[in-house]
Amino acid sequence: MLIRKPDDIPGSEITPEQHFHNRRTLVRTLGLAAGSALLPGITRAEADEFQVPAVDDPLTPEKIVTGFNNFYEFGTDKSDPARYAHRLTTSPWRVTVSGEAEKTGEFDYEDLIAGMTPEERIYRFRCVEAWSMVVPWSGIPLADILRRLEPNSRARYVEFTTLYRPEEMPGQKAIFSSIDWPYVEGLRMDEAMHPLTLMATGVYGKPLPNQNGAPWRLIVPWKYGFKSIKSIVAIRFTSREPVNTWQQIAPREYGFYANVNPAVDHPRWSQARERRLPSTLLDQNWMPTLPFNGYADQVAGLYDGMDLSRNF
Ligand code: MTE
Repeated sequence: MLIRKPDDIPGSEITPEQHFHNRRTLVRTLGLAAGSALLPGITRAEADEFQVPAVDDPLTPEKIVTGFNNFYEFGTDKSDPARYAHRLTTSPWRVTVSGEAEKTGEFDYEDLIAGMTPEERIYRFRCVEAWSMVVPWSGIPLADILRRLEPNSRARYVEFTTLYRPEEMPGQKAIFSSIDWPYVEGLRMDEAMHPLTLMATGVYGKPLPNQNGAPWRLIVPWKYGFKSIKSIVAIRFTSREPVNTWQQIAPREYGFYANVNPAVDHPRWSQARERRLPSTLLDQNWMPTLPFNGYADQVAGLYDGMDLSRNF
């Protein structure tokens, strides 16, 4: 399958027209200077040299990436997001930035990424439910966006929140829902600043479809998919570890780190292997799950000294 590189993708496919008009407003609203150098994790220079590891496995077909989804705001069935997410209004899209940073306030999401060119990243994507895909995302390294917001030295974690809009998201109205909306996720600052961590704005060379988390969603390829929070409307820098939605619902089953780890089973199923989509009942297409989803060389160092057997 031929995938175009970011340079070949017409800007209009990746970025709505307004991005271009908003670039000037950006400098005004954010008063942007060069990013802060005093951030944990990898420095700008190291990030520039970083090689994104190639994934040789075949891409998961687009119709599965955009048709088999977890986005509980639209329902719990894998087909619900594609069926109902067209109701979601994604423009304008305001984002609240708060907490331990210099640039806080409400912004248009376009302003937060203005002037940045999306890159294409082909990543393995491993859900905690033991299915997996290989997905050609396009997006911006999260570090580039966070640097703009100038987190201060008290910022040890960053928390993300999904839109709460029950009139457009039928799953948020469901009375039997066990989720205390809105959906929340978090990363440690060094995880957030790692060059593999992506804020995706597109997939398969097109703007992100609503069911995949339009207009922007996180992608953290070495963690179980639930960390990759969709349709983000708030970014908060904090000194305390956030309590993410799945940890809140089932703390014995889901933790904060959620690093892909074949050696630590989910209490109700094995994590040693995964079903690579597409698969049928006859051909389940099982394959071994890799530590850190195959990104151990790049990220294992983030967890030096941590007990990985408890790192779920
Ligand atoms: N983000 C929100 N807001 N709501 C969700 O239900 N599901 C998570 C994650 N992000 C979810 C979410 C889970 S469990 C997975 S596996 C991925 O989104 C699925 O992403 P995809 O549908 O693009 O494959």
